[in-house]
Amino acid sequence: MGKNGKIRVGIVGVGNCASALVQAISYYTKNPEAPGLIHRRIKGWEVKDIEIVCAFDIDKRKVGNPLKEAIFAKPNCTIVFEPNILNGDVEVMMGPILDGIAPHMRDYPEDKTFIPADKKPVDVAKVLKETGTEVLVNFLPVGSEQAAGFYASAALEAGCAFINCMPVFIVSDEEWGKKFKERGLPAIGDDIKSQLGATILHRAIANLFSIRGIMPEQSYQLNFGGNTDFLNMLDRSRLRTKKISKTSAVTSALNNEIPSDKIHIGPSDYVEFLNDTKICYIRMEGRGLGGAKIEIDVKLKVEDSPNSAGVVIDAIRFAKVAMEEKIAGPVYIVSAFTMKHPPVQLPDEEAYQHIQRYLNGDGKLW
Ligand SMILES: NC(=O)c1ccc[n+]([C@@H]2O[C@H](COP(=O)([O-])OP(=O)(O)OC[C@H]3O[C@@H](n4cnc5c(N)ncnc54)[C@H](O)[C@@H]3O)[C@@H](O)[C@H]2O)c1
Repeated sequence: MGKNGKIRVGIVGVGNCASALVQAISYYTKNPEAPGLIHRRIKGWEVKDIEIVCAFDIDKRKVGNPLKEAIFAKPNCTIVFEPNILNGDVEVMMGPILDGIAPHMRDYPEDKTFIPADKKPVDVAKVLKETGTEVLVNFLPVGSEQAAGFYASAALEAGCAFINCMPVFIVSDEEWGKKFKERGLPAIGDDIKSQLGATILHRAIANLFSIRGIMPEQSYQLNFGGNTDFLNMLDRSRLRTKKISKTSAVTSALNNEIPSDKIHIGPSDYVEFLNDTKICYIRMEGRGLGGAKIEIDVKLKVEDSPNSAGVVIDAIRFAKVAMEEKIAGPVYIVSAFTMKHPPVQLPDEEAYQHIQRYLNGDGKLW
């Protein structure tokens, strides 16, 4: 049984992840039985029930244009699996740039980088209120600390649930968490964990080491791709929280600690021609019975942005359910299931079981 009504969503950052999300909403509205979703229904909410009612960006090829065009504008480069966007006439509005554009982004060709629009930012909180936005989804570039804080504050002011898909610590930060709790608003974050990405795969291998008594010795996870996310992350000074988020996601799945100089996890390079294809190499080394050596090498190749949107599409519907249930503050179980750096980490299998129990009418989301 579907639901009546819509989930009114705002998007911050109309980049590749937003493109995959918007395409997916139209794709699954037209093909509700198509495979590829984690959950077809979440307490009655289907993908077709998600409506994008406002969107903010700062790039001149996106601001002022309808969402259905902006998602395909450069420098976006993700795959097009749904060219015909339903209800995509919402105009992308100018947000404040703040620290959204790293200085080195100026040194790259226009088709590959951000180009700021010469426009005055709108009053974001006012737009959120006027459009009746219920859930605000943050897709800002890594390292946009001030901008992420700005949009989180706008969500608080306007009374929106907040989903933080990037690694500035908001939902997992005690002070911010308290603000959402006091305001009676659910928050899900931080840093989206892709549907089948490097993090969940590395965690699965780490979990095998833990449950089979293998002592981990050293590990790396090298990631590279050719989208603006990887270009932006060439500025190492923007990566502090990304590295914490990705590393703690893996180490939390290990029973035995690996010394910090024996684990290396992070974005590693920008390879322009890969576009939105991401390649990841994972290596785990350890010792089993009698100190016998074990080495695992894995290569993962994915389309980066649909992989994240495959989880955001669940997080949005869980945010709506959390609002219906009047959950205030961090939604712990959903954050553990969907995010790399949640306020409380849980093994993926356990988070999944909690979610399934809740969906079957028994259990809690927080
Ligand atoms: N698999 C994944 O793709 C994945 C997984 C986990 C986390 N993330 C994170 O999600 C975020 C979004 O990823 P993406 O690939 O869509 O990035 P992107 O570079 O394609 O998009 C970022 C967008 O933000 C816009 N922007 C910059 N400053 C802004 C501001 N101040 N206000 C409004 N818009 C602004 C840019 O113009 C661009 O359109 C990144 O932080 C990324 O690390 C992505």
